[in-house]
Amino acid sequence: MSAPLDRRSDDLRLRVVRRALRHDSAPKHVAGEARFIDDLREPEGLLHIAVGGAPVAAGQLLGVDLTAVKAAPGVVRVLTAADVPGKNDVSPIAGDDPVFVDSQVQFYGQVVFAVIAQTRAQARRAARLARIETATGTASITVDDALANDVHILPDYTFRKDDSAAALVASPKRLKGRLRIGGQEHFYLEGQVSLAIPGEDGDMLVHVSTQHPSECQHLVAKVLGVPDAAVTIEVRRMGGAFGGKETQSAQWAAIAALGARITGHPCKIRLDRDDDMCLTGKRHDFLADYEVGFDDKGVITALETVMASRCGYSVDVSGAINDRAMFHADNAYYLPAATITTKRMKTNTVSNTAFRGFGGPQGMMVAERAIDAIAWSLGLDPLDVRKRNLYGPRGNVTPYGMTVEDNILPALMERCESLSEYRARRRAAAEFNAQSAFIKRGLALTPVKFGISFTTTHLNQAGALVHVYQDGSIHLNHGGTEMGQGLYIKVAQVVAEEFGVDADRVKITATTTAKVPNTSATAASSGSDINGWAAKNAAGAIKERLTAFAAEANNVAAEQIEFRDNRVFIGNRSIPFNELIRQAYFARVSLSSTGFYKTPKIHWDAKTGQGRPFFYFAYGTACSEVLVDVTTGEMKVTRVDIVHDVGRSLNPAIDVGQIEGGFVQGMGWLTTEELVFHKDGRLLSHAPSTYKIPCASDAPEHFRIALWDGPNREDTIYRSKAVGEPPLMLAISVFAAIADAIHSLNPSVPVPLDAPATPESILRAVQAVTTANAVTTAS
Ligand code: MTE
Ligand code: MOS
Repeated sequence: MSAPLDRRSDDLRLRVVRRALRHDSAPKHVAGEARFIDDLREPEGLLHIAVGGAPVAAGQLLGVDLTAVKAAPGVVRVLTAADVPGKNDVSPIAGDDPVFVDSQVQFYGQVVFAVIAQTRAQARRAARLARIETATGTASITVDDALANDVHILPDYTFRKDDSAAALVASPKRLKGRLRIGGQEHFYLEGQVSLAIPGEDGDMLVHVSTQHPSECQHLVAKVLGVPDAAVTIEVRRMGGAFGGKETQSAQWAAIAALGARITGHPCKIRLDRDDDMCLTGKRHDFLADYEVGFDDKGVITALETVMASRCGYSVDVSGAINDRAMFHADNAYYLPAATITTKRMKTNTVSNTAFRGFGGPQGMMVAERAIDAIAWSLGLDPLDVRKRNLYGPRGNVTPYGMTVEDNILPALMERCESLSEYRARRRAAAEFNAQSAFIKRGLALTPVKFGISFTTTHLNQAGALVHVYQDGSIHLNHGGTEMGQGLYIKVAQVVAEEFGVDADRVKITATTTAKVPNTSATAASSGSDINGWAAKNAAGAIKERLTAFAAEANNVAAEQIEFRDNRVFIGNRSIPFNELIRQAYFARVSLSSTGFYKTPKIHWDAKTGQGRPFFYFAYGTACSEVLVDVTTGEMKVTRVDIVHDVGRSLNPAIDVGQIEGGFVQGMGWLTTEELVFHKDGRLLSHAPSTYKIPCASDAPEHFRIALWDGPNREDTIYRSKAVGEPPLMLAISVFAAIADAIHSLNPSVPVPLDAPATPESILRAVQAVTTANAVTTAS
């Protein structure tokens, strides 16, 4: 009942934040005027680079004959490991990602050399002329191979809560399950691309399509053998990244920079789509086993799971990704006892990497499949089992010792249940299925609880730089990168709000390591949380100086100065913002400031597997309905209702766009996108002809999104919440709805559906349930 907590009175003062402003680049995107790296006017003397790789997945490099490559038309130079002046490594952590293979080939196509030529076509043609000889070693391509060969890239890791083995034994009921969860290609529209421009004294400016300019800077410097300060990385925008440009843009940046260093010419490398798909890491696919104990109401008493992932040939960020799979193996559900293990398997494939959700989606799949299996075994509606297991009265401590303090899921799910008319449609689906032999309707409502913060605690920091020029125009820079997610406009809104001016007075500028140093990747959905605060702090520092100046110059108290509507109110009069800036400049007030932010409250002890790795959780729910043709395995998503929590939105237009895009990308992951490797290690699905991402016509016809209207409990920027990744996992409702449709064929058995639920996968599950006849739940 207290007034200060009322959002309207608080938000009434806000003029720019919370506005549904369009993405700052939207008109440029539509008009084709937004400049991506390959659109930058090419510098004089530009040379082009292509790469050539190994013809086996594993084995010793015996000989590399580049004579024909060197002799090819237009070729200027070739580069191999021997040409690297610094360290031949672009790994983020472990020192195991060579720029060029030195001796041991670790995956099919791994880069052995680069060729620099006058044109891109010449470089690409020349690259094919190499003769690379290798011995053929033993290769593990799949998770199953790696398990059989017992090859691990990192040690197994386990979270333990209570004695789950004893709890399983004591459980009234228990069941076991196994599922395969597919990987995913990022399929950003702009592929990996870098343009390096050499400067004087060995300096290097590299335009890189990267989410992680600081790491790129560091790695390019290391490869060149120069100090970080000699390298500047700049990125205005990416044409999509989705995690695929967090670590995996560094190799191409390093090759471009090395070419520029050695030839003295600017050099550009832009991977062809097929090469991009074959040479860069993807979402980890998992093979997961679980055993769950529960009572006759479907309430979970214990969960044990072992999740094995395909990490690829090197460590990359697989440690943190597997950790996050573990952090989310509970999804939204209270587990009184749990043992959660990941096996990080080494395979002779590209090094798998960050992908929207960062392992979280795979972990959640285990929880959600277990819930469905419980519901089926008891003949209950899966929604009721989900609701009974939510964090709440029974407990709020996660398997990793963090207390869930901000749980809004019970209310969120109620809202989604009523908006979607779940109960009525559940009955309608049953009626429909009773009289439709081949087309079955499926329905599912699933929750998402996603932890926000980098689980590597030190990464939760950000910096910003704000200048106000003499004419009152504002220059904004921060460490976050723009990949289409709308970070730049959100942060610009924050700065405009601080100065009380319109958003278009704030000049958005390209991210560069020369302005804001030592930044973290724009990842973990934390871009606006951390850069928003850093920019507010920078603008706030300038505003404080301006306030002190105005107060003193006009002989009024600082409390009587207010910045709003492009003006500054000083006591009972006001002047234009620009006028105050002019006066402040002449009075020698500094009009530039950096700002910094570090996320509070978080800590993590990897040894004990306990801590508070997340500042807060973002929540969401989705109800999806599908039609499945059980004779062909074809599937169509007919209706989706989403209620999603973005705290108090910085920009609802951007947030709804993230929810739509994330959901559809998640649908692709779980339904049509299938990565297929040949047993010799070649990626067979290496182009849009063989790898199917969703297109506009795959978006559900009825697709309604409601934003949950409540503040973040934690003191985030204007009480907003991160939105980049969590909505992807709402698509688990589509997968569960498909399983529900198949389940209608034979309610007495569980549905062994693997992801992605392609027509083949659906048909296999259909066959399994229609040929099975006994319930197989008891252990
Ligand atoms: N949205 C678009 N349009 N393009 C992208 O590449 N990446 C996603 C998400 N949304 C992405 C996107 C991923 S993986 C993350 S971690 C966040 O955006 C990163 O941005 P944020 O932290 O500013 O949300
Ligand atoms: Mo996003 S997977 O954290 O780049």
